[in-house]
Amino acid sequence: MTRSFDLFAACLPGLEPLLSRELHTLGTEPRTMRGGVAFRGDARCAARACLWLGTASHVLIRVAEFPCRALGELQRKATLLPWREWLRPQVPIEVHATSRASRLYHTGAIAERIENAIGEAFGSPVRAPAAGDEVFARIHVRFANDVCTISVDATTSPLHRRGWRLAGAKAPLREDLAHALLLASPWTPDTALLDPFCGSGTIAIEAAGLALGLPPGRLRPPPLHHLALFDAETWLELRAEPSAPRGAGAIAASDRDAGAIDAARANAERAGVATRIDLSANAFTQHPWLDDRGDAASAPRRGVLATNPPFGVRIGRSEGLGVLWQSLGHRARRLGPGWSVALLAHDVRLARRCGMVLRAAWTTRHGGLSVTALVGEGTAAASTPASS
Ligand SMILES: C[S@@+](CC[C@H](N)C(=O)[O-])C[C@H]1O[C@@H](n2cnc3c(N)ncnc32)[C@H](O)[C@@H]1O
Repeated sequence: MTRSFDLFAACLPGLEPLLSRELHTLGTEPRTMRGGVAFRGDARCAARACLWLGTASHVLIRVAEFPCRALGELQRKATLLPWREWLRPQVPIEVHATSRASRLYHTGAIAERIENAIGEAFGSPVRAPAAGDEVFARIHVRFANDVCTISVDATTSPLHRRGWRLAGAKAPLREDLAHALLLASPWTPDTALLDPFCGSGTIAIEAAGLALGLPPGRLRPPPLHHLALFDAETWLELRAEPSAPRGAGAIAASDRDAGAIDAARANAERAGVATRIDLSANAFTQHPWLDDRGDAASAPRRGVLATNPPFGVRIGRSEGLGVLWQSLGHRARRLGPGWSVALLAHDVRLARRCGMVLRAAWTTRHGGLSVTALVGEGTAAASTPASS
């Protein structure tokens, strides 16, 4: 019988409810906590979570828990643990320790005892990852109220690094945030999606992956090289699960920077979704669906304008951005009642210049800044003056 573990999917603060929804869809019983979502499952379930979760950054597998009040006791108990069932020999190991309300509070000494125990299990001292090491195991040791909990990280690199974004543009958005923006919006893959400030294409590429029913972690290295908990056969089975397309709504993305569009195209090709996205290099005012002078009827009847306009802090200054938001709101409203917006903003007051009724779906931190996902269901104008 396969062993069941306490598992924890970690995410950026603020994204927990969306991550919980994703875990529910995967058939687990999620419990939302601060910084992530707890659930139970075996190693296969953990690998499946690594493959399918779009808003998580790590999946932790709790392998041991015991009371402990002294360093000698820690070393003795940790030496008895079946490290060879969890870790692979010769893989560099990083031990991260925390302590709260416990007799053992020296996190360096805690980490050292765990490293000693692992070294003893494998018959050679633990080697820390060197710069450039791409495969290593991360162990989390947490002391709280004199109870020691040991977890191994199912992933070496954070899950938001999907593996397709090699070509960058200015201020790229993290893939998990793009995913979270889409999940918090009213968008469904049978309706249209438009990102008129697409940069490297992150939002449109995540949307195309969702529409095609592709797992977000499809290009990531399998979680096999650093942990003995996983086996290649299970991973191949999981990868072979058929993906069911979920809708054929048009996905369009544009940016005024032609270099960004080249990057977005290269990224979309690597992600295997290039044929699902209509990319064009133009100012947002000239996108065929938003162009004032053009034929507004060219836009599909239902859809979501999901975008991450320039923040002003990261690329350029805020002056002038008010006009941009105002114009964006004006054009979004002209798309018609079948459209909604999902806007990622650093400055919520600035975003309200678009003059639409917006609710904050989530707030988190990105690149040292607070960012909020603002969702407007239907493109109705706000009753208060746009600039208030
Ligand atoms: C914050 S970045 C978007 C980043 C993108 N979400 C990504 O993941 O790469 C804002 C983008 O808006 C583009 N932009 C700025 N002003 C624009 C305008 N008037 N029309 C179209 N694109 C514009 C910039 O070239 C930049 O790529």
